[in-house]
Amino acid sequence: MEILAVHHPLVAHKLTALRDVNTDSPTFRRLADELVTLLAYEATRDVRVSPVTVDTPLQPAQGVRLSRPAPLVVPILRAGLGMLDGMTRLIPTAEVGFLGMVRDEDSLKAQTYATRLPDDLAGRQCYVLDPMLATGGTLVAAIQLLFDRGARDVTAITLLAAPEGLATVESAFPAETPIRIVTAAVDERLNENGYIIPGLGDAGDRLYG
Ligand code: PRP
Repeated sequence: MEILAVHHPLVAHKLTALRDVNTDSPTFRRLADELVTLLAYEATRDVRVSPVTVDTPLQPAQGVRLSRPAPLVVPILRAGLGMLDGMTRLIPTAEVGFLGMVRDEDSLKAQTYATRLPDDLAGRQCYVLDPMLATGGTLVAAIQLLFDRGARDVTAITLLAAPEGLATVESAFPAETPIRIVTAAVDERLNENGYIIPGLGDAGDRLYG
């Protein structure tokens, strides 16, 4: 598994504003959207492309275009929806699947309440969107659902990750499994309620109230 915390002043600036308890919901949504586009730029560094030749006004030029099948983008409802537009702005041809998952706040176990994915994900590059990677239970369940349909190449984009959650995802799959996690920051720890510290609070609530 590969973990990439994106160190960039614009990412740090937007993340700081996102953490601020005084940031209102419309601003939070806009910042999350902008952050995703910056993170997606890094997360798609290995997106598959095929060679193509185009005619410029002067002569043919070699270039690339995204390979088929198109990448699959999977926001985890509800908070992951706040990251979808930022991602599809960068890859308008991406297919979109949906996973509805909620963490039981007592047991901290993830429950899946909705699954809308293509049946066959063999050979597909998959990009999971979820702002928070806390205990890691949600992301492990999401990746397993994708693997069950044949996916082998999964990148998760998160705004914040806890060290405990990263360790959980890492230990849940064989070391050689091509899983990447791209995040704006790895925070200090989880508190006793499973919240990321210092974090930004409940992303779903801050996005959607
Ligand atoms: C939050 C968050 C992740 C999950 C992370 O969602 O968006 O999906 O919790 O927790 P974990 O890493 O400990 O599993 P939540 O369950 O609050 O649902 P919501 O997006 O509908 O608010």
